[in-house]
Amino acid sequence: MAEQKISIHGVWGSRWTFILAATGSAVGLGNIWKFPYITGENGGGAFVLVYLLCIALVGIPIMMAEVLLGRQGRQSPINTMRELVRETGANKGWQLLGWMGAIAGFLILTYYSVIAGWSLNYIYEVGVGTFNGKDGAQVGSIFDELLANPKKLLFWHSLFMVLVTVIVAQGVIKGLEKAVRTLMPLLFLLLILLVGYAVNTGSFGQGFAFLFNVDFSKMSWTAALTALGHAFFTLSLGMGAIMVYGSYMPKKASIGGTVLMVAALDTLVALVAGLAIFPIVFSNGLEPGAGPGLMFITLPHAFGNMGFGQLFGALFFVLVSFAALSSGISIIEPAVAWVVERFKVNRGLATAMLCFLAWFVGLGTVFSFNLWAEFKLAGFTFFDVLDFLTANIMLPLTGFFIALYVGWVLSQRRVAGELAMQSSGLYSLWRFALRFLAPLAVLAVFVVPLYERFVG
Ligand code: TRP
Repeated sequence: MAEQKISIHGVWGSRWTFILAATGSAVGLGNIWKFPYITGENGGGAFVLVYLLCIALVGIPIMMAEVLLGRQGRQSPINTMRELVRETGANKGWQLLGWMGAIAGFLILTYYSVIAGWSLNYIYEVGVGTFNGKDGAQVGSIFDELLANPKKLLFWHSLFMVLVTVIVAQGVIKGLEKAVRTLMPLLFLLLILLVGYAVNTGSFGQGFAFLFNVDFSKMSWTAALTALGHAFFTLSLGMGAIMVYGSYMPKKASIGGTVLMVAALDTLVALVAGLAIFPIVFSNGLEPGAGPGLMFITLPHAFGNMGFGQLFGALFFVLVSFAALSSGISIIEPAVAWVVERFKVNRGLATAMLCFLAWFVGLGTVFSFNLWAEFKLAGFTFFDVLDFLTANIMLPLTGFFIALYVGWVLSQRRVAGELAMQSSGLYSLWRFALRFLAPLAVLAVFVVPLYERFVG
């Protein structure tokens, strides 16, 4: 019976471990690096509102669905889907879900590691005082120099990938719990410290207004797609990361409450990061739409101009790098779990092979900032294409099919039994969101922009 399955890769010690691990997966570069810069590029308030709606109406219901699938299958997402499809006699096409997820995850890791490498590099740079007393423009050109230097990028990208390999090779369950339990709260504290600094820049009101004043004239369907894609990215959805963590979740833990907690923590970290960054942007006359470098320009500038900035700054980038690490390991875990099951090789070997491949493909992202900066596909560099393809296309698409599969194909008995929700009202709300809201939202942001471009 489905109820008795347990995963060969292990089980979390408790519901809390799952919360910590899932939060460790969710909170990462997506919150601190990506959320502020795409918010800046897309005009602020209205984008933030759409993003929050996507988290609540699409992200949370799908996250519950992913955990539920994982706990039903107790295997890598690929085999979980294969098994469930067999048990339920559903169309074999649904198995593609697991595959799409694993491929998306692999592709995400290739560039995630490069950006995490920037963060590792900044531990050093901030620590030795590179930014002390520098103005916004100078801090910006130091960042540009990093991007222009393929050797440096390569070094830090490689270091990050080695760290991921070492941890994943040992199994994600050991070790992760303790680290997340102490380092996540510390990261949050330092973000609060930065907000404190931002309050004193004199532009806090302007930064706040940028984030929360809703002006729909700045919104477009493309921006809505970015917001939706980011809701998936930041919650680690649509590729099996949460599914695989769910497969290690003890049977008794309640899925709904747990998922709410993870999503709320994740959203909080992103908003606080925004509150730290935008006041600094405005007080220094920087450009909110500066792009991927936004956080790497604003925050080092703050650290370079505050008391004990070298110390706080180095610590801050240590914690960001750690957050990236706890996300990075969850990005590759579904693929590793599958290789272990499929080829019966040991974990170390599976991890080493996959991470080496991801490292190699990551060279494309390294070079897209310098040697290959001129090679563009419709105006997009290699990095831009990967980012768009994974976050804006593959994750929402996989999420769409997860919603359909759990909402329409799996039997109510199985689903309701697994969720075991106390309140039937909340259960109906969830089911409605999963069956209608989530798929329609994904469809709308896919179809309307195409319609506008080719028909409207
Ligand atoms: N959520 C992480 C972040 O915000 C990144 C991440 C981890 C991820 N696992 C994922 C993104 C799975 C997509 C899919 O940084």
